[in-house]
Amino acid sequence: MSLLRPSVSSLRTASISSSFARQRVGRVFLNFRQMSTDQYEYILTSRPADGVALITLNRPKALNALCTPLFNELNKALGDFDNDDSVRAVVLTGSERAFAAGADIKEMKDKEYAEVYKGKFLESWTLMTSIRKPIIAAVSGYALGGGCELALMCDIILASPTAVFGQPEINIGVIPGGGGTQRLARVIGKSRTMELTLTGRNFSGEEAAAWGMVSRVVGQGEGQVVKEAVDMASVIAGKSAIAVQAGKEAVNTAYESTLDEGLRFERRLFHSLFATKDQKEGMTAFVEKRKPNWSHS
Ligand code: CAA
Repeated sequence: MSLLRPSVSSLRTASISSSFARQRVGRVFLNFRQMSTDQYEYILTSRPADGVALITLNRPKALNALCTPLFNELNKALGDFDNDDSVRAVVLTGSERAFAAGADIKEMKDKEYAEVYKGKFLESWTLMTSIRKPIIAAVSGYALGGGCELALMCDIILASPTAVFGQPEINIGVIPGGGGTQRLARVIGKSRTMELTLTGRNFSGEEAAAWGMVSRVVGQGEGQVVKEAVDMASVIAGKSAIAVQAGKEAVNTAYESTLDEGLRFERRLFHSLFATKDQKEGMTAFVEKRKPNWSHS
C-alpha cells in the first residue's frame, strides 16, 4: 500500500497535563508522557500497552478538523503500525471535546469542482480501510461529518457518554463525502441514515449503541473511553495476530458480499488457518490445559 509521506520535522515530546500523565488502564499503565509527535504536527503516537499503539488526533484549536495534512499523517502512522510486527492493535482517539469535527471546512470552502474531481479529494481517506490490524475508535465529544465517517472506518467504536455523532454536511450545502451515507446505511439502516443525512441532526452515543453502530458507551470520567479501548486492544493483542487478521478480513467481507459468498470466504479463511503454527499451538494448549504461546505465524 502506498501511503503519503508527511514532511519530517524534529522529534518532539508532547506536553500532556500531569493529571493525564500516568493512569492505570486495567493491567497496564498509560504513560502519556511517552506520547510523541515523532515527525508529526497534527497527531500524537504512543505505545500504552504491549502490542498496542495509540494515535491521538491533536489539532485542538480546530476541534481536530480533518485537514489534508492531518489525514496524510494519520495514514502514515497507520501504515507504519501496520508494518510493525510489535503492534497488534491500534486505538484512535481525539480529545475530550472532539474526536473530530469533520473535514476542514476552511480548507474546502474555496475549492472548485475540477480541483476536487481531478485531485480525487478525500480518496486517500479510504487508505485506512486496508490496514490489516484492528483499529478501535475511542470517541469523546464531537464526531461530526468526516469525524463520524472516520469512526465508521474503524473496526470497533467505543463512545464516551459525551460523544456527539452526526452527519451535518447538509447544513453547509453538501452531503457526506467520506463514506457516511454508505457505511451508516449498512450499519444502522436506510431510514435512520436518510433522516440523519437529510436533517443533519446529531445523535448520541447511546443512540449509536442502540442502533449497533457503537459497541458500547463506557462509564463517565476523563480518559475513560481511551482506557477501555486500550484494555480491549490489549486483549486483542494477546491473541494470535494471524487469526485476528483473518477475523477482521472475514467480518469485513460481510459488508462486501452476498451471504453465500461470505460464508464460503469465511470457511476458506478458517481452512487456511490450519496451515499456521498458531492453530497447532492454540488447540494443543487447550488440550494440555495451558496458555497458548503464540508465534504469530
Ligand atoms: N472545519 C474547520 N474548522 C472547524 C471545524 C471544521 N469542520 N469545526 C470546528 N472548527 C473550528 C471553528 O471554526 C473554530 O475555529 P476558530 O476559533 O478559528 O473560529 C474552532 O474549531 C472551534 O469551533 P467553534 O467555535 O464552532 O466551537 P463550538 O463549541 O461553538 O461548536 C461545533 C462546535 C458544533 C462542532 C462547531 O464547530 C461545528 O458545527 N463545526 C462544524 C461541524 C461540521 O459541519 N462538520 C462537517 C464538515 S463537512 C465534512 O465533514 C464533509 C465530509 O463528509 C468529509
